[in-house]
Amino acid sequence: MILEVKGVSKVFSGRGKSRIVANDDLTFSLKEGEIFGLLGHNGAGKTTLVNQIIGLITPTSGEINLLGKSVLKSPARARSICSLQPQSQLPLGFLTPAQAVTIMGKMRAGQGFDVKRRMERLFEKLDIGRWANTEGQRLSGGVRRLTAFCMAVIVPGNLVILDEPTNDVDPVRRRYLWQIIREITSDGTSVILVTHNVLEAEKAVDRVAILHQGKFLAKGTPSAVKNSVSNKMRLEVSLTNELSQIEIPTWAVSSQRKGTRLFFSLPQSSVLAAIDWARGQAEQGRIIDYSLSPTTIEDVYVELTSEKELLTS
Ligand SMILES: Nc1ncnc2c1ncn2[C@@H]1O[C@H](COP(=O)(O)OP(=O)(O)OP(=O)(O)O)[C@@H](O)[C@H]1O
Ligand SMILES: [Mg+2]
Repeated sequence: MILEVKGVSKVFSGRGKSRIVANDDLTFSLKEGEIFGLLGHNGAGKTTLVNQIIGLITPTSGEINLLGKSVLKSPARARSICSLQPQSQLPLGFLTPAQAVTIMGKMRAGQGFDVKRRMERLFEKLDIGRWANTEGQRLSGGVRRLTAFCMAVIVPGNLVILDEPTNDVDPVRRRYLWQIIREITSDGTSVILVTHNVLEAEKAVDRVAILHQGKFLAKGTPSAVKNSVSNKMRLEVSLTNELSQIEIPTWAVSSQRKGTRLFFSLPQSSVLAAIDWARGQAEQGRIIDYSLSPTTIEDVYVELTSEKELLTS
């Protein structure tokens, strides 16, 4: 096991006597080569958890082990086992991407790692080679973020932690970044991906956890998490015009209208009935088209976190 987090809580003191429970009794573990997605709203407690794993801050209670040994007892060891891409943009100043990545590679003592060759390959794969020698302060936000990513993976530890790595990165380079991550995990390196981008996470991770107000609301493979909340399907229909009125079919568990678009949620057993219904509506000219899809993890995320928001407000 690369990482074991057992009953970890972190309480910060807020203004006056108030307390902020940023992490509340969190437990999970991570195996070699696994990609673990950590999802959650702003302020959910994701970065706080990451900072405890790398020994930057200590848990109020609970235990964290990396490769079988306590992080609390040797935080320096934790920082050599883990490599981190922090959430905040690194101030590169006058350093160029090539210099920053080389320095990091040397600092992480890339024994057997040919830092220069690896760096050239990373820059080529991410298609950022043309900025390799541009001063940090002249770089665009996305290239700066990708430079920080290269710094985290130039000599990866056993655990690579990426806190919002694809923020401000274009869709094409995001794909390149995911290819690199997959290559790294094939060598047995594990990855924790912290993100708000739920759909991207669904495609990329082996297991996922939804963190909300310091607690895990759901944990497991993306499909298990989806099934634990609902095994419903969703039918989206485009109406011919804004004023069209359509009677809600009996198989619809819920429905929502946005302008000319209608969304129905339905049980899997009603799929055939729903297709029949949609075809009929199309033949009668009431709808332009329709599409049927399984619930996404984003639907689950919104459903889970919004229920809790209601319960706690
Ligand atoms: N050093 C600190 N002192 C006091 N409170 C803190 C401290 N660090 C974080 N918090 C609080 O702990 C909670 C969790 O913060 P955290 O940064 O872990 O959230 P996050 O899930 O990473 O959010 P985001 O998606 O916005 O990055 C927040 O309420 C935050 O204000
Ligand atoms: Mg954060």
